[in-house]
Amino acid sequence: MCEKTQFWDQAKGLLEEWYVACTSKELKKDQPLQTTIYGKNFVVFRQKNGQAAVLLDQCVHRGVPLSAGKMTNGCVTCPYHGWSYQADGQVAHIPSVNGKFFPEKPHAFKQRSYDVCEQDGLIWVYLGDKAPTARPEIFKLPFYDAPGWQSYYMVGKYDGEMGAVAQNIMDVTHTIFVHEGWFRSESGKAVDATIEVSPRKVVVEYHDHEADVGMMPWLTNPHGAQQVHRDSFIAPNITLVEYHWGEPSGMVFNSLITPVGPYESRVYTCVSYKFPIPRVLAKAIQPAVNVYTWVVNNQDIKILAARRKGLENMPMTHSHSVRGDMAHIALEKILESLRHDQSLTPSILGKRPMQFQI
Ligand code: FES
Ligand SMILES: [Fe+2]
Repeated sequence: MCEKTQFWDQAKGLLEEWYVACTSKELKKDQPLQTTIYGKNFVVFRQKNGQAAVLLDQCVHRGVPLSAGKMTNGCVTCPYHGWSYQADGQVAHIPSVNGKFFPEKPHAFKQRSYDVCEQDGLIWVYLGDKAPTARPEIFKLPFYDAPGWQSYYMVGKYDGEMGAVAQNIMDVTHTIFVHEGWFRSESGKAVDATIEVSPRKVVVEYHDHEADVGMMPWLTNPHGAQQVHRDSFIAPNITLVEYHWGEPSGMVFNSLITPVGPYESRVYTCVSYKFPIPRVLAKAIQPAVNVYTWVVNNQDIKILAARRKGLENMPMTHSHSVRGDMAHIALEKILESLRHDQSLTPSILGKRPMQFQI
């Protein structure tokens, strides 16, 4: 069995979730797009009415990827013999059989289609088999179109599995090394936090209200308001990193992680910010904010690529953790519980204090 098929099969219960296939902007009206989730390729396309559709990216005739084809009559057309597929996977046209699109007696062939939802500038796809009423809800990005906030997406490829990427984003202790001088620098201070674990969520509330996270405090927090810093993991594929400086100011990084391969993820990070400056100015500085957030993002991409190289050298059967890694341990346990459709061990649930030094 190939590694990619194994990766899909091992996902088990994690397939019964919504994942981001692409951003709305990435999906053009006249061009099908290939996306990979858990090692399988899917074709995403827009129907005549603009609604997105997702099929397994494989023609049922001889197996050619449909994403290599083109759009015809709101259907995706295979580049080999021209079979066309409508949104529900039904073959709508076979040129060698019948010149007609959508014949009265439909062809007996169909490709698997997947449920899709376009929301918050993202195209979400449901990979599993559960009935709509038994599925988790699609995550609504809380700051994407919140009044007064500016938002944009960064799409990055990370050399790490979904859990490793979520750990990286939820991890404060790496920031003084990987992002030194850009985001946070070593202070020698102890940081107190409270961690709360529930069956599909980990929330870490930091009690470091005086902290300066190096995000241009003259812009983000000119009045020296107390900082609220909260990191959340919403299973299985979402992280939300929030910094608020009083009511008028905040910066939020909301990442949606799509597993691509055993050591590869695509991450859609919605960066939202609200600063105490006029709206027009907040909009005008977006390119500069974008440069800053990409510098920090690329530092994480680089360190996860280094981690992958390390693991390829010698796979680790057991990784060692310290007290500051409580969120990482909890999120991995949640992912395992969803993978195997089991409940979490009760001892991990609930609220407890957490401390580490940075
Ligand atoms: S392989 Fe697609 S039409 Fe023949
Ligand atoms: Fe980081």
